[in-house]
Order: sequence, then C-alpha cells, then structure tokens
Amino acid sequence: MELHRDVERILLSEEQIKKRVADIGREISLDYQGRKPLLVSVLKGSVVFMADLMREITVDCDIDFMSVSSYGKGQKTTGVVRILKDLDHDINGRHVIVVEDILDSGLTLSYILELLKTRGAASIRLCTLLDKPDRRKVSVAVDYSGFTVPDEFVVGYGLDYAELYRNLPYIGVLKPEVYTK
Ligand code: PRP
Repeated sequence: MELHRDVERILLSEEQIKKRVADIGREISLDYQGRKPLLVSVLKGSVVFMADLMREITVDCDIDFMSVSSYGKGQKTTGVVRILKDLDHDINGRHVIVVEDILDSGLTLSYILELLKTRGAASIRLCTLLDKPDRRKVSVAVDYSGFTVPDEFVVGYGLDYAELYRNLPYIGVLKPEVYTK
C-alpha cells in the first residue's frame, strides 16, 4: 500500500497490528473463559481496533459504544469529560473490557473508568492498542496493551488528526508540517 502523502513513516504495519491484535484476542479469550465480557469501545478512535479485536475473541461477548468529549481545550487537563453517548447496556454485574485506541495523558480513561466503577460492574479491565507513557498525567492501570509508542504524532487505524487519516490501515507518524502550519 502506498504511503499517504502526509505520513512521514510507518510506525506499525498492517501485519504487525494484525498479529498483535490476534495475540490480545487470544489472551482475552483465555482470561474470560466461562464468562461473557462486554466490550466497550470509546468512539471514535477505537472502532477499527474494536472491529478487529472482537473477531479474535472466541468466548461469547457483546459490545457497546460510548462517546465522550472534553469540555474544551482549557478543561482537557482537568479530565472532566462530557458524555455525548452513554452505554446502551446496564453494566451491573457485567465483566466490562474498555477498548481504546490510545492511552495518552490518561485523563479520559481515568474519568471513564471511575464512572463505570460506580455502576456496579463485576469487573472492569482496560485494553488499549497503543500506550504513550511519556505523556501520562494520571496513572491508569492497563490490563491489555498492544504497543508502547514514542511521543510522536501517530495517525491511522482509527487515530486521527483533525478527523483525517482514520482509514489508513497502518499506524504512521504524521509529518510535522501537517500540524504546525
Ligand atoms: C483519544 C483516545 C482516547 C483519548 C486518550 O480520543 O481515543 O479516548 O484521546 O487521551 P488521554 O489519555 O490524553 O485522555 P480523542 O479525544 O482523540 O477522540 P477520538 O477517539 O474521537 O479521535
């Protein structure tokens, strides 16, 4: 596949991602034998990962989606998020796996995890495809992590810059001139 003109280089190829997603799916399938986890995708970045991961999970599971937004740039650092779309499921007694594309500052995820904890889930685990620990502001416990990535602007496989590049099948590093101009 041809490299997108705004992408400097490929960080994770389709093949690398596919293999790692299969590994995680296998691990989850083993860990959740005899249970029926609810996979919760946080829109929109995680949809591509979610779609691939769920097909690598062999135990019965169901899925749900949540959409959140920070209140604005100034508020982002507080970690307060606004819920644009809540879960359809009652998670009381459920084994929840939150599926994310990237764990960055940790603010969004820590807010979501705290919120879900108040709803009586039997367990809550976090599965993230990418972990960017250099950017962490609050500590978040990760149960399943695909790749640790450096502090670079990554796009593709669901991840965007200004809503673009989510459709790229690989994860690439964006050319700095794209976001500095
Ligand atoms: C990304 C990602 C996480 C969050 C992680 O979403 O999907 O939800 O940021 O960042 P944090 O660890 O600093 O909180 P984004 O707000 O870009 O929305 P999107 O998924 O719709 O692209």
